[in-house]
Amino acid sequence: MSGRPVVVVTRRLPEPVHDALAREFDARLNPDDRPLTPDGLKDALRQADALLTTVTDKITAEVLSVDPRRAGLIANFGVGFNNIDVDTARARGIAVSNTPDVLTDATADLAMTLLLMIARRTGEGERHLRGGQWTGWRPTHMLGTHVTGKTLGLIGMGRIARAVAQRAHHGFGMKVIFHDPYPPSPEVASSLGAEPRERLEDVLREADFVSLHCPATAETRHLMNRDRFALMRPEAMLVNTARGDVVDEAALVEALRSGRIAGAGLDVFEKEPQVTQALVTMDNVVLLPHLGSATQETRVAMGMRAFDNLQRFFGGQPLQDRVV
Ligand code: DGY
Repeated sequence: MSGRPVVVVTRRLPEPVHDALAREFDARLNPDDRPLTPDGLKDALRQADALLTTVTDKITAEVLSVDPRRAGLIANFGVGFNNIDVDTARARGIAVSNTPDVLTDATADLAMTLLLMIARRTGEGERHLRGGQWTGWRPTHMLGTHVTGKTLGLIGMGRIARAVAQRAHHGFGMKVIFHDPYPPSPEVASSLGAEPRERLEDVLREADFVSLHCPATAETRHLMNRDRFALMRPEAMLVNTARGDVVDEAALVEALRSGRIAGAGLDVFEKEPQVTQALVTMDNVVLLPHLGSATQETRVAMGMRAFDNLQRFFGGQPLQDRVV
């Protein structure tokens, strides 16, 4: 390769990441932060040596079909990579990397934020106050649900779920149960105060709060469907900081409307950035705009992790975070 590698960066990134990218590569930055169209992504694959993409870039089989193509790596900014058709990337010999570890704490914090917000009705409380409806303290005003002593059910027990278990058990005195087809060792689980359950359904039946931490795959699409909501306790609440399509949003609306479950805290949605309108009107639902990893420190660390993958790729070294 003559000259510096060309890297197309699809969205605006924090300044320190831009600086590193511009120092090392012929980095085509996107200071206006306008998402690339499918044609723009195809052009990038034709013209650049690598792409630095995000969850908002849909790298489909069609996008990957460009021929001739120059790019050899798609360095995704995020731990999830369901925005990329990795099977096609593999078949076409394009490497894909992600940014695990560095966003674990921020995302676990946000899952706990949502859990506490729905349990303690804080979104509703803030709307009440800002709306000028607050008439003063009273013993029966806006009573929520205690979390200490309650059971948190984790679906998936990877890095982020473990960090949630740590917070929930050791910080908030919750009982933690989980289901994962690839569970951690009994020693790891017990250090987090977390008990495995053989079946996902067992977690749903037992938990007061269910928090989703599985990747978005063909198998986990609509994992939370009508039948599964029907297993949850009527006082139970759902937290989703994983991916929107793990939940059948229409079934969720129905479960909330009918009182099948008591509430939901959602950071991710089936058709982002669109949100099912019925959810917006429900007081027992807290909605956040995909903020799981959104701290300054974390977003810089994610960018630097993607940068590291790019450097290794162009240095001919094995990628730290190769997913394909
Ligand atoms: C992640 O890392 O998967 C975040 O959701 C951003 O894509």
